[in-house]
Amino acid sequence: MLTQYTLKMPHVVYSGEGALDHIKEIAGTCAGKAVVFSDKGIMAAGLLEKPLSLLKEAGVGYSVLDGLPAEPDCEEAQKVIDAFKAEKAGLIIAVGGGSVMDIAKLASVLATDAYTVRDLLDDPCLAKKCVPTLMIPTTAGTGSEATPNSIVAVPEKELKVGIVNDAMIADYVILDGEMIKNLPRKIAAATGVDALAHAIECYTSNKANPFSDTFALEALDLILTNIERACDDPDALDAKNAMLIAAFYAGAAITASGTTAVHALSYPLGGKYHIPHGVSNAMLLVPVMKFNEPACRDRFAAAYDRIAGGKGMPQRTPEEKSAWIIRRLDEIVTHLEIPSSLREYGVGDQDLDALVEAGMDVKRLLVNNMREVTPEDARKLYMEIM
Ligand SMILES: NC(=O)c1ccc[n+]([C@@H]2O[C@H](COP(=O)([O-])OP(=O)(O)OC[C@H]3O[C@@H](n4cnc5c(N)ncnc54)[C@H](O)[C@@H]3O)[C@@H](O)[C@H]2O)c1
Ligand SMILES: [Zn+2]
Repeated sequence: MLTQYTLKMPHVVYSGEGALDHIKEIAGTCAGKAVVFSDKGIMAAGLLEKPLSLLKEAGVGYSVLDGLPAEPDCEEAQKVIDAFKAEKAGLIIAVGGGSVMDIAKLASVLATDAYTVRDLLDDPCLAKKCVPTLMIPTTAGTGSEATPNSIVAVPEKELKVGIVNDAMIADYVILDGEMIKNLPRKIAAATGVDALAHAIECYTSNKANPFSDTFALEALDLILTNIERACDDPDALDAKNAMLIAAFYAGAAITASGTTAVHALSYPLGGKYHIPHGVSNAMLLVPVMKFNEPACRDRFAAAYDRIAGGKGMPQRTPEEKSAWIIRRLDEIVTHLEIPSSLREYGVGDQDLDALVEAGMDVKRLLVNNMREVTPEDARKLYMEIM
Protein backbone atom coordinates (compact mmCIF):
# COMPACT_ATOMS: atom_id res chain seq x y z
CA MET A 1 0.00 0.00 0.00
CA LEU A 2 1.21 3.48 -0.79
CA THR A 3 1.38 5.87 2.16
CA GLN A 4 0.85 8.94 -0.02
CA TYR A 5 -1.63 8.96 -2.85
CA THR A 6 -3.39 11.24 -5.26
CA LEU A 7 -6.61 11.17 -7.23
CA LYS A 8 -6.55 12.78 -10.66
CA MET A 9 -9.72 12.74 -12.72
CA PRO A 10 -11.27 14.26 -15.85
CA HIS A 11 -12.88 17.64 -15.12
CA VAL A 12 -16.47 16.69 -15.95
CA VAL A 13 -18.04 13.27 -16.54
CA TYR A 14 -21.55 13.08 -17.97
CA SER A 15 -23.46 9.84 -17.75
CA GLY A 16 -26.95 8.40 -18.00
CA GLU A 17 -29.75 8.69 -20.50
CA GLY A 18 -29.22 11.32 -23.17
CA ALA A 19 -25.70 12.08 -21.93
CA LEU A 20 -24.51 12.48 -25.53
CA ASP A 21 -26.49 15.73 -25.80
CA HIS A 22 -23.82 17.43 -23.68
CA ILE A 23 -21.64 17.44 -26.80
CA LYS A 24 -23.43 20.65 -27.81
CA GLU A 25 -22.58 22.68 -24.73
CA ILE A 26 -19.01 21.33 -24.56
CA ALA A 27 -18.35 22.14 -28.21
CA GLY A 28 -20.03 25.53 -27.76
CA THR A 29 -17.51 26.58 -25.10
CA CYS A 30 -14.43 25.67 -27.15
CA ALA A 31 -12.64 28.03 -29.49
CA GLY A 32 -12.56 26.73 -33.05
CA LYS A 33 -13.61 23.60 -34.84
CA ALA A 34 -13.85 20.11 -33.43
CA VAL A 35 -11.72 17.27 -34.76
CA VAL A 36 -13.43 13.92 -34.26
CA PHE A 37 -11.20 10.84 -33.96
CA SER A 38 -12.80 7.50 -34.76
CA ASP A 39 -12.26 4.34 -36.80
CA LYS A 40 -13.92 2.41 -39.61
CA GLY A 41 -15.60 -0.08 -37.23
CA ILE A 42 -17.29 2.76 -35.34
CA MET A 43 -18.35 4.41 -38.61
CA ALA A 44 -19.79 1.12 -39.89
CA ALA A 45 -21.73 0.69 -36.63
CA GLY A 46 -23.32 4.12 -37.24
CA LEU A 47 -21.98 5.47 -33.95
CA LEU A 48 -20.74 8.76 -35.39
CA GLU A 49 -24.10 9.88 -36.72
CA LYS A 50 -25.52 11.32 -33.49
CA PRO A 51 -22.34 13.06 -32.29
CA LEU A 52 -21.90 14.72 -35.70
CA SER A 53 -25.52 15.83 -35.90
CA LEU A 54 -25.21 17.35 -32.40
CA LEU A 55 -22.15 19.31 -33.55
CA LYS A 56 -24.17 20.56 -36.52
CA GLU A 57 -27.03 21.61 -34.22
CA ALA A 58 -24.51 23.48 -32.07
CA GLY A 59 -23.21 25.28 -35.18
CA VAL A 60 -19.70 23.98 -34.56
CA GLY A 61 -17.56 23.07 -37.57
CA TYR A 62 -15.83 19.70 -37.54
CA SER A 63 -13.70 17.27 -39.44
CA VAL A 64 -13.39 13.51 -38.94
CA LEU A 65 -10.19 11.44 -38.79
CA ASP A 66 -11.25 7.83 -39.06
CA GLY A 67 -8.18 6.20 -40.62
CA LEU A 68 -6.93 4.73 -37.34
CA PRO A 69 -6.12 1.03 -37.30
CA ALA A 70 -6.98 -0.91 -34.13
CA GLU A 71 -4.12 -0.87 -31.60
CA PRO A 72 -1.86 1.35 -33.73
CA ASP A 73 1.93 1.49 -33.58
CA CYS A 74 3.79 4.73 -33.00
CA GLU A 75 4.35 5.42 -36.73
CA GLU A 76 0.67 4.92 -37.54
CA ALA A 77 -0.22 7.18 -34.61
CA GLN A 78 2.20 9.88 -35.80
CA LYS A 79 0.68 9.79 -39.31
CA VAL A 80 -2.82 10.47 -37.98
CA ILE A 81 -1.51 13.14 -35.64
CA ASP A 82 0.30 14.89 -38.52
CA ALA A 83 -3.03 15.03 -40.38
CA PHE A 84 -4.65 16.34 -37.19
CA LYS A 85 -2.12 19.16 -36.76
CA ALA A 86 -3.13 20.67 -40.10
CA GLU A 87 -6.72 20.98 -38.82
CA LYS A 88 -6.00 23.63 -36.14
CA ALA A 89 -8.56 22.13 -33.76
CA GLY A 90 -10.20 23.90 -30.80
CA LEU A 91 -11.58 20.63 -29.41
CA ILE A 92 -10.73 16.95 -29.82
CA ILE A 93 -13.58 14.46 -29.62
CA ALA A 94 -12.80 10.74 -29.50
CA VAL A 95 -15.62 8.36 -30.37
CA GLY A 96 -14.26 4.83 -30.08
CA GLY A 97 -12.56 2.19 -28.02
CA GLY A 98 -9.17 2.43 -26.35
CA SER A 99 -7.33 2.56 -29.69
CA VAL A 100 -9.15 5.72 -30.78
CA MET A 101 -9.13 7.39 -27.36
CA ASP A 102 -5.41 6.76 -26.83
CA ILE A 103 -4.45 8.41 -30.12
CA ALA A 104 -6.86 11.32 -29.53
CA LYS A 105 -5.24 11.85 -26.12
CA LEU A 106 -1.80 11.83 -27.74
CA ALA A 107 -3.00 14.34 -30.34
CA SER A 108 -4.09 16.67 -27.52
CA VAL A 109 -0.47 17.08 -26.47
CA LEU A 110 0.98 16.94 -29.98
CA ALA A 111 -0.60 19.92 -31.75
CA THR A 112 2.93 21.29 -31.68
CA ASP A 113 6.10 20.70 -33.68
CA ALA A 114 8.19 20.73 -30.50
CA TYR A 115 8.14 16.93 -30.05
CA THR A 116 6.84 13.74 -31.69
CA VAL A 117 5.25 10.47 -30.54
CA ARG A 118 8.72 8.87 -30.49
CA ASP A 119 10.05 11.75 -28.35
CA LEU A 120 7.22 11.08 -25.87
CA LEU A 121 8.14 7.38 -25.78
CA ASP A 122 11.64 8.45 -24.70
CA ASP A 123 10.47 11.20 -22.36
CA PRO A 124 6.73 11.37 -21.52
CA CYS A 125 7.39 14.43 -19.32
CA LEU A 126 7.61 16.55 -22.48
CA ALA A 127 3.82 16.34 -22.96
CA LYS A 128 1.86 19.60 -22.52
CA LYS A 129 -1.87 19.83 -23.22
CA CYS A 130 -2.50 21.94 -26.35
CA VAL A 131 -6.16 21.16 -27.13
CA PRO A 132 -9.02 20.17 -24.76
CA THR A 133 -10.46 16.66 -25.12
CA LEU A 134 -13.83 14.94 -24.90
CA MET A 135 -13.74 11.12 -24.65
CA ILE A 136 -16.80 9.06 -25.65
CA PRO A 137 -16.02 5.36 -25.15
CA THR A 138 -17.73 2.79 -27.37
CA THR A 139 -16.31 -0.23 -25.54
CA ALA A 140 -16.56 -1.10 -21.84
CA GLY A 141 -13.66 -1.16 -21.80
CA THR A 142 -10.22 0.11 -21.42
CA GLY A 143 -11.08 3.00 -19.10
CA SER A 144 -8.77 5.14 -21.25
CA GLU A 145 -11.36 7.92 -20.82
CA ALA A 146 -10.24 8.12 -17.17
CA THR A 147 -6.48 7.54 -17.43
CA PRO A 148 -3.42 9.61 -18.30
CA ASN A 149 -2.12 6.67 -20.40
CA SER A 150 -1.77 6.20 -24.11
CA ILE A 151 -0.57 2.81 -25.34
CA VAL A 152 1.17 2.40 -28.68
CA ALA A 153 3.06 -0.50 -30.22
CA VAL A 154 6.76 0.00 -30.85
CA PRO A 155 7.59 -2.22 -33.84
CA GLU A 156 11.36 -2.57 -33.30
CA LYS A 157 10.79 -3.57 -29.64
CA GLU A 158 7.88 -5.85 -30.58
CA LEU A 159 6.16 -4.44 -27.51
CA LYS A 160 3.32 -2.15 -26.58
CA VAL A 161 4.48 0.80 -24.54
CA GLY A 162 2.48 3.14 -22.31
CA ILE A 163 3.10 6.88 -22.53
CA VAL A 164 1.86 8.31 -19.24
CA ASN A 165 1.41 11.99 -18.47
CA ASP A 166 -1.32 13.80 -16.51
CA ALA A 167 -1.68 16.24 -19.40
CA MET A 168 -3.46 13.43 -21.26
CA ILE A 169 -6.28 13.08 -18.74
CA ALA A 170 -9.50 13.98 -20.57
CA ASP A 171 -11.20 17.28 -19.90
CA TYR A 172 -14.68 15.88 -20.57
CA VAL A 173 -16.07 12.34 -20.66
CA ILE A 174 -19.47 11.16 -21.84
CA LEU A 175 -20.59 7.68 -20.78
CA ASP A 176 -23.70 6.97 -22.83
CA GLY A 177 -25.10 3.43 -23.00
CA GLU A 178 -26.26 4.10 -26.58
CA MET A 179 -22.65 3.75 -27.67
CA ILE A 180 -22.26 0.17 -26.46
CA LYS A 181 -25.81 -1.06 -26.99
CA ASN A 182 -24.88 -3.08 -30.09
CA LEU A 183 -21.28 -3.90 -29.22
CA PRO A 184 -20.59 -7.32 -30.81
CA ARG A 185 -20.33 -10.10 -28.18
CA LYS A 186 -16.72 -10.95 -29.02
CA ILE A 187 -15.57 -7.35 -28.51
CA ALA A 188 -17.79 -6.87 -25.43
CA ALA A 189 -16.28 -10.00 -23.89
CA ALA A 190 -12.61 -9.16 -24.45
CA THR A 191 -12.96 -5.49 -23.51
CA GLY A 192 -15.10 -6.37 -20.47
CA VAL A 193 -12.43 -8.75 -19.19
CA ASP A 194 -9.85 -5.99 -19.75
CA ALA A 195 -11.87 -3.82 -17.34
CA LEU A 196 -12.08 -6.77 -14.95
CA ALA A 197 -8.30 -7.16 -15.09
CA HIS A 198 -7.85 -3.43 -14.38
CA ALA A 199 -10.06 -3.71 -11.30
CA ILE A 200 -8.49 -6.80 -9.75
CA GLU A 201 -4.93 -5.85 -10.67
CA CYS A 202 -5.26 -2.34 -9.24
CA TYR A 203 -6.79 -3.76 -6.06
CA THR A 204 -3.89 -6.20 -5.64
CA SER A 205 -1.17 -3.75 -6.71
CA ASN A 206 1.70 -2.52 -4.56
CA LYS A 207 0.38 0.93 -5.49
CA ALA A 208 -3.12 0.21 -4.12
CA ASN A 209 -4.41 2.89 -1.74
CA PRO A 210 -7.76 3.99 -0.32
CA PHE A 211 -8.62 6.05 -3.43
CA SER A 212 -7.89 3.29 -5.92
CA ASP A 213 -9.51 0.66 -3.68
CA THR A 214 -12.81 2.54 -3.72
CA PHE A 215 -12.94 2.56 -7.51
CA ALA A 216 -11.42 -0.90 -8.00
CA LEU A 217 -13.82 -2.64 -5.61
CA GLU A 218 -16.91 -0.95 -6.99
CA ALA A 219 -15.76 -1.80 -10.52
CA LEU A 220 -15.10 -5.40 -9.51
CA ASP A 221 -18.51 -5.79 -7.91
CA LEU A 222 -20.28 -4.28 -10.94
CA ILE A 223 -18.34 -6.43 -13.40
CA LEU A 224 -18.71 -9.72 -11.52
CA THR A 225 -22.44 -9.05 -11.33
CA ASN A 226 -23.06 -7.88 -14.88
CA ILE A 227 -20.45 -9.03 -17.39
CA GLU A 228 -22.06 -12.25 -18.59
CA ARG A 229 -25.52 -10.73 -19.04
CA ALA A 230 -24.06 -7.62 -20.72
CA CYS A 231 -22.32 -9.87 -23.27
CA ASP A 232 -25.02 -12.52 -23.75
CA ASP A 233 -28.27 -10.59 -23.76
CA PRO A 234 -28.63 -7.87 -26.41
CA ASP A 235 -31.52 -6.34 -24.42
CA ALA A 236 -29.75 -6.16 -21.05
CA LEU A 237 -29.22 -2.42 -21.19
CA ASP A 238 -28.93 -2.16 -17.39
CA ALA A 239 -26.03 -4.64 -17.40
CA LYS A 240 -24.36 -2.86 -20.35
CA ASN A 241 -24.65 0.52 -18.62
CA ALA A 242 -23.22 -1.00 -15.45
CA MET A 243 -20.24 -2.24 -17.50
CA LEU A 244 -19.69 1.24 -18.98
CA ILE A 245 -19.57 2.81 -15.50
CA ALA A 246 -17.44 -0.06 -14.18
CA ALA A 247 -14.90 0.37 -16.98
CA PHE A 248 -14.64 4.07 -16.12
CA TYR A 249 -14.17 3.29 -12.41
CA ALA A 250 -11.53 0.69 -13.25
CA GLY A 251 -9.77 3.35 -15.33
CA ALA A 252 -9.88 5.70 -12.32
CA ALA A 253 -8.33 2.88 -10.29
CA ILE A 254 -5.49 2.63 -12.83
CA THR A 255 -4.87 6.37 -12.52
CA ALA A 256 -4.69 6.17 -8.71
CA SER A 257 -2.89 2.80 -8.53
CA GLY A 258 -1.54 0.73 -11.43
CA THR A 259 -1.95 -2.62 -13.14
CA THR A 260 0.39 -5.53 -12.44
CA ALA A 261 1.76 -8.72 -14.02
CA VAL A 262 -1.28 -9.51 -16.20
CA HIS A 263 -0.82 -6.31 -18.16
CA ALA A 264 2.99 -6.49 -18.03
CA LEU A 265 3.15 -9.96 -19.59
CA SER A 266 0.34 -9.07 -21.99
CA TYR A 267 2.20 -6.19 -23.66
CA PRO A 268 4.54 -8.33 -25.83
CA LEU A 269 1.58 -10.45 -26.92
CA GLY A 270 -0.04 -7.32 -28.36
CA GLY A 271 3.20 -5.78 -29.62
CA LYS A 272 4.55 -8.79 -31.52
CA TYR A 273 1.61 -11.10 -32.21
CA HIS A 274 -1.14 -8.49 -32.43
CA ILE A 275 -3.37 -10.37 -30.01
CA PRO A 276 -6.12 -7.90 -29.03
CA HIS A 277 -5.41 -6.28 -25.66
CA GLY A 278 -8.51 -7.71 -23.95
CA VAL A 279 -7.82 -11.21 -25.27
CA SER A 280 -4.20 -11.37 -24.09
CA ASN A 281 -5.25 -10.09 -20.67
CA ALA A 282 -8.06 -12.67 -20.51
CA MET A 283 -5.55 -15.45 -21.26
CA LEU A 284 -3.21 -14.34 -18.48
CA LEU A 285 -5.76 -13.26 -15.87
CA VAL A 286 -6.38 -16.54 -14.07
CA PRO A 287 -2.82 -17.98 -14.30
CA VAL A 288 -1.35 -14.73 -12.91
CA MET A 289 -3.96 -14.42 -10.14
CA LYS A 290 -3.32 -18.05 -9.11
CA PHE A 291 0.42 -17.30 -9.08
CA ASN A 292 -0.22 -14.14 -7.01
CA GLU A 293 -2.62 -15.82 -4.58
CA PRO A 294 -0.18 -16.49 -1.72
CA ALA A 295 0.81 -12.80 -1.69
CA CYS A 296 -2.70 -11.44 -2.33
CA ARG A 297 -4.89 -13.76 -0.26
CA ASP A 298 -5.97 -11.07 2.21
CA ARG A 299 -6.88 -8.71 -0.61
CA PHE A 300 -8.89 -11.38 -2.45
CA ALA A 301 -10.65 -12.21 0.82
CA ALA A 302 -11.44 -8.52 1.38
CA ALA A 303 -12.80 -8.30 -2.18
CA TYR A 304 -15.01 -11.30 -1.42
CA ASP A 305 -16.30 -9.61 1.74
CA ARG A 306 -17.13 -6.43 -0.19
CA ILE A 307 -19.01 -8.37 -2.85
CA ALA A 308 -20.60 -10.89 -0.47
CA GLY A 309 -21.83 -8.12 1.85
CA GLY A 310 -24.64 -6.96 -0.40
CA LYS A 311 -25.55 -10.41 -1.70
CA GLY A 312 -26.00 -12.54 1.40
CA MET A 313 -23.13 -14.86 0.42
CA PRO A 314 -21.87 -17.23 3.15
CA GLN A 315 -19.04 -16.59 5.58
CA ARG A 316 -15.89 -18.47 4.57
CA THR A 317 -12.24 -18.77 5.61
CA PRO A 318 -9.77 -16.39 3.92
CA GLU A 319 -8.50 -19.32 1.79
CA GLU A 320 -12.04 -20.12 0.65
CA LYS A 321 -12.83 -16.48 -0.08
CA SER A 322 -9.68 -16.10 -2.11
CA ALA A 323 -10.40 -19.32 -4.00
CA TRP A 324 -13.95 -18.10 -4.70
CA ILE A 325 -12.66 -14.91 -6.35
CA ILE A 326 -10.22 -16.80 -8.58
CA ARG A 327 -12.86 -19.40 -9.47
CA ARG A 328 -15.26 -16.60 -10.42
CA LEU A 329 -12.64 -15.02 -12.72
CA ASP A 330 -12.11 -18.42 -14.34
CA GLU A 331 -15.86 -18.95 -14.77
CA ILE A 332 -16.20 -15.60 -16.54
CA VAL A 333 -13.29 -16.09 -18.94
CA THR A 334 -14.53 -19.60 -19.80
CA HIS A 335 -18.16 -18.54 -20.19
CA LEU A 336 -17.25 -15.70 -22.54
CA GLU A 337 -15.36 -18.07 -24.89
CA ILE A 338 -12.40 -15.77 -25.31
CA PRO A 339 -9.50 -17.50 -27.13
CA SER A 340 -7.36 -19.12 -24.45
CA SER A 341 -4.29 -20.44 -26.25
CA LEU A 342 -1.33 -18.56 -27.66
CA ARG A 343 -0.97 -21.23 -30.35
CA GLU A 344 -4.22 -19.95 -31.88
CA TYR A 345 -2.23 -16.80 -32.68
CA GLY A 346 0.79 -18.63 -34.11
CA VAL A 347 2.93 -18.40 -30.97
CA GLY A 348 5.10 -21.50 -30.45
CA ASP A 349 7.71 -22.82 -28.01
CA GLN A 350 10.45 -21.21 -30.11
CA ASP A 351 9.01 -17.79 -29.15
CA LEU A 352 9.24 -18.29 -25.40
CA ASP A 353 12.72 -16.81 -24.82
CA ALA A 354 11.86 -13.59 -26.61
CA LEU A 355 8.48 -13.35 -24.87
CA VAL A 356 10.03 -13.75 -21.44
CA GLU A 357 12.66 -11.13 -22.22
CA ALA A 358 10.09 -8.64 -23.52
CA GLY A 359 7.63 -9.31 -20.67
CA MET A 360 10.33 -8.86 -18.04
CA ASP A 361 11.15 -5.52 -19.66
CA VAL A 362 7.77 -4.07 -18.61
CA LYS A 363 9.25 -3.09 -15.26
CA ARG A 364 6.86 -0.13 -14.91
CA LEU A 365 4.07 -2.62 -14.15
CA LEU A 366 5.99 -5.62 -12.78
CA VAL A 367 7.12 -3.52 -9.81
CA ASN A 368 3.44 -3.21 -8.87
CA ASN A 369 2.97 -6.97 -8.56
CA MET A 370 2.74 -8.09 -4.91
CA ARG A 371 4.56 -11.34 -5.68
CA GLU A 372 7.91 -10.92 -7.41
CA VAL A 373 7.93 -12.30 -10.95
CA THR A 374 11.27 -13.87 -11.99
CA PRO A 375 12.09 -14.76 -15.62
CA GLU A 376 11.44 -18.42 -14.70
CA ASP A 377 7.99 -17.48 -13.35
CA ALA A 378 7.22 -15.51 -16.50
CA ARG A 379 8.23 -18.51 -18.64
CA LYS A 380 5.94 -20.82 -16.64
CA LEU A 381 3.05 -18.36 -16.96
CA TYR A 382 3.48 -18.09 -20.73
CA MET A 383 3.77 -21.89 -20.98
CA GLU A 384 0.46 -22.26 -19.12
CA ILE A 385 -1.33 -20.38 -21.88
CA MET A 386 0.47 -22.04 -24.80
N1 LIG B 1 -5.08 4.27 -22.14
C1 LIG B 1 -5.40 3.32 -21.31
O1 LIG B 1 -5.52 3.55 -20.11
C2 LIG B 1 -5.63 1.94 -21.84
C3 LIG B 1 -6.04 0.92 -20.98
C4 LIG B 1 -6.24 -0.34 -21.52
C5 LIG B 1 -6.06 -0.57 -22.88
N2 LIG B 1 -5.63 0.44 -23.68
C6 LIG B 1 -5.40 0.25 -25.13
O2 LIG B 1 -6.67 0.31 -25.79
C7 LIG B 1 -6.60 -0.46 -27.00
C8 LIG B 1 -7.75 -1.45 -27.05
O3 LIG B 1 -8.96 -0.76 -27.02
P1 LIG B 1 -10.36 -1.54 -27.02
O4 LIG B 1 -10.17 -2.81 -26.30
O5 LIG B 1 -11.39 -0.60 -26.55
O6 LIG B 1 -10.59 -1.93 -28.54
P2 LIG B 1 -10.34 -1.09 -29.89
O7 LIG B 1 -10.49 0.36 -29.66
O8 LIG B 1 -9.03 -1.56 -30.47
O9 LIG B 1 -11.53 -1.60 -30.78
C9 LIG B 1 -11.57 -2.95 -31.23
C10 LIG B 1 -12.52 -3.07 -32.41
O10 LIG B 1 -13.84 -2.88 -31.97
C11 LIG B 1 -14.54 -1.98 -32.82
N3 LIG B 1 -15.55 -1.32 -31.98
C12 LIG B 1 -15.34 -0.54 -30.91
N4 LIG B 1 -16.51 -0.15 -30.37
C13 LIG B 1 -17.50 -0.70 -31.13
C14 LIG B 1 -18.92 -0.67 -31.06
N5 LIG B 1 -19.56 -0.01 -30.09
N6 LIG B 1 -19.60 -1.33 -32.00
C15 LIG B 1 -18.97 -2.03 -32.98
N7 LIG B 1 -17.62 -2.10 -33.08
C16 LIG B 1 -16.89 -1.44 -32.16
C17 LIG B 1 -13.47 -1.05 -33.36
O11 LIG B 1 -13.86 -0.50 -34.59
C18 LIG B 1 -12.29 -2.01 -33.50
O12 LIG B 1 -12.31 -2.65 -34.75
C19 LIG B 1 -5.25 -1.18 -26.96
O13 LIG B 1 -4.32 -0.49 -27.77
C20 LIG B 1 -4.86 -1.10 -25.50
O14 LIG B 1 -3.46 -1.19 -25.31
C21 LIG B 1 -5.46 1.69 -23.19
ZN1 LIG C 1 -5.97 -3.04 -20.12
